Parts: sequence; structure tokens; C-alpha cells
Amino acid sequence: MLIGNAYSTRYKRKEGSALTTLFVAGGSGFIGAAFVRHALSAGHQVWALCRSERSAVAMQALGAQPVMGDLLTQGAWQQHVANAEIVLHFAQPQTFGGRVGKDRALRYEADRLKMDQHLFGALRGSPVKHLIYVSGTSYYGQQDLPLKDETATPNPRGWGPYIQKAMAAVEQFRTAGIPIQIVFPSSVYGAGSWYAEILASLQAGKTQLMLAHRDPTMATVHVEDCARAILHLMQHGEPAGRYIICDDRPPKYSEIVQKSAEALGVPLKTRPVPLWLARILAGPVVTDAYDAHLSNARLRSTGFRFNFPTIEQGIPDAVNTWLAQSAPRGAETHAAD
Ligand SMILES: NC(=O)c1ccc[n+]([C@@H]2O[C@H](COP(=O)([O-])OP(=O)(O)OC[C@H]3O[C@@H](n4cnc5c(N)ncnc54)[C@H](OP(=O)(O)O)[C@@H]3O)[C@@H](O)[C@H]2O)c1
Repeated sequence: MLIGNAYSTRYKRKEGSALTTLFVAGGSGFIGAAFVRHALSAGHQVWALCRSERSAVAMQALGAQPVMGDLLTQGAWQQHVANAEIVLHFAQPQTFGGRVGKDRALRYEADRLKMDQHLFGALRGSPVKHLIYVSGTSYYGQQDLPLKDETATPNPRGWGPYIQKAMAAVEQFRTAGIPIQIVFPSSVYGAGSWYAEILASLQAGKTQLMLAHRDPTMATVHVEDCARAILHLMQHGEPAGRYIICDDRPPKYSEIVQKSAEALGVPLKTRPVPLWLARILAGPVVTDAYDAHLSNARLRSTGFRFNFPTIEQGIPDAVNTWLAQSAPRGAETHAAD
């Protein structure tokens, strides 16, 4: 079993490089793993919090130094938080997969709060330069046209009401003097999380259930752009600023599904479902559809440039990455032959 600093002696600091020591919680997750890859290739040293041997092996394979620990429990990992120059917090209880009823959402709310308390608690009185807290645009929730920026009045929807308490606690830590930048990724698509579920379902030829009463506008961002944006903001953003991370144009949900089916080369079968049935099947939290008309103007004003400014550019890339990752071993070799 891996414990404490089992890996630290194996970690080699790159000679001659100007490294910043980053402590990353949630580095083994969907967005976190993309961030860790970009941070390492930019030359930073990454300590990645891991609660399982599987995550530790994955993080070490990328070149990060695993630190064993669980955010729900205080422990030796907190010393690494205090010793890091920059702390990035991507960790959250799982949101995707299965039905999301109120009980599960309330457990998420309580666990997220506890995880944050343990992480921030480790920072009290430490010389950490900077902390980046990864929230989500469900906190801003329903926002009508014209596109709204970070100054909009939050109108939490979906998971949003269940991160409100965590956001209030973050503000308290900020007031207590911890420099916290808050980033709000929109719906992040790539080869993981909720989007991989849609791709797997399309690939399997399943009928896509679409809400009969509305086709919500979703702010989206490609996972690689999301990770690059967070790395960029770490260097170029205001240390205590708030930044929405989304594409240039928020698409309709139906467009995402349509373009994904096209990129996969599969026929799209859809069926409208009434809200009451969607609530029974998927649960009230994920069927709480809302329009996220959000702007990336503040992020762009820092000099950030997107590789995939809209889903037209991003979905074909995300689908290809997902296909490559989900292909049976050896399939790529045959394709290349
Ligand atoms: N995905 C999206 O579309 C999206 C959109 C907007 C905002 N966000 C926000 O972005 C952040 C990252 O999201 P994500 O989709 O990358 O999440 P994710 O794939 O579910 O990953 C969650 C990460 O948190 C870790 N974790 C969970 N519980 C932990 C615990 N008790 N102790 C230590 N680590 C723990 C997981 O570790 P294991 O590997 O051990 O499970 C994993 O690394 C979250 O704050 C989320 O709210 C995501």
C-alpha cells in the first residue's frame, strides 16, 4: 500500500529550470489531469493529492509526485499544501453517472464543504502565494441574453444550489486573508465526465432523450482549453479575481448532441421526454435545465487564446480523442496499417 511520501524519493527535480511547486487536489480527475499535463510541460513541479494507488500510478506516469491522502480526512498531506507555492483545488465528490436525486446532491454539498475546510485549514499561517479554486458556472445558473460576465447576480441552478454554501465559505477564507482566485468552468467537454457518457450512448445507438419543454443553452469549453485557461490565469489573472471559462458562443444542448453524432458518424435518434418523466429517470438536479448565456470577455482580456473557440472546432477533436482512448488495444495499429 502507498502511504505518505512513498514516492518523494523517486521524484527528480528538473535541473536548471525555474520551477514553481504546485499542490493539485483533484489532479486525477477529468479537468485536473489535463491541467497537470499542461503544468508539467510548462516546467512546473506538481504534487498531486491521490486517495488511491490507481490515481497515484496515473499521476506518476504523467510526471507528477503523488501525495497520498483524502480531503475528507485530515492528515500528513496537509503539510504539502502548506509547503506549496501555489495550490489548485479541482477535487469534488463525483457528479456524473447514475441518477442525481436531492439526497445525493445534499451529500455532495456536505462532502464538498468538508473537503474545502480541510484544504483551506492547512493554509492558515502558511506562505502560499496563490490558491485557485475551481467552481462551476451552475453557480451563475440561469442567465438570459445578452451574454453575462462575472459581475452577474448568481441565480444557481442544477448543481449550483449545492455549491452555494461552499462558495460562501470560500469568501470567508478570502476575507481571512488567503489569496483565492475563483475559476468557473462552464460545461467541460472532452474524453471524460458527462460528455463521455453522451458519446458512449450515441456510439451504442441508444435513443437520446431530449427535454420536451425546452432546449437549454449551455456554455461549453473544450477540456484542453479549460486546463490551458487555468494555467494561463495562474500567471496572468488577478490573484483574487473571478473568471468564467467558456467558449465564444454558447450552443443549444441539441446542437451538442447533433454535432457529436456527426463527428462519431452515427445516426442520431432522439425522443422528447416530459419534465416529470426526466425527473424520475435522471433525477431533479440534472434535469433542472437552464440557459447559461455567459461571456469569456474577462478571460480573453488577460490575453488567453482558445484552440477551440466554439464546439464546431472542439467537438471533432474531443470525439477523436475519446475514440482513440476507448478503442480496443491494438485498434490504432490496425487503423494505421
Ligand atoms: N466536468 C465539468 O463539466 C465541470 C464543469 C464545471 C465545473 N467543474 C468543476 O471542475 C472541478 C473538477 O471537475 P472534474 O469534472 O474534473 O471532476 P472529476 O473528474 O469528478 O474529478 C474529481 C477529482 O476529485 C478527486 N476527489 C474526489 N473526492 C476526493 C477526496 N475525498 N479526496 C481527495 N480527492 C478527491 C478525485 O479523485 P479520484 O481520482 O480518487 O476519484 C478526482 O481527482 C470541480 O470542482 C467541478 O465542480 C466541472
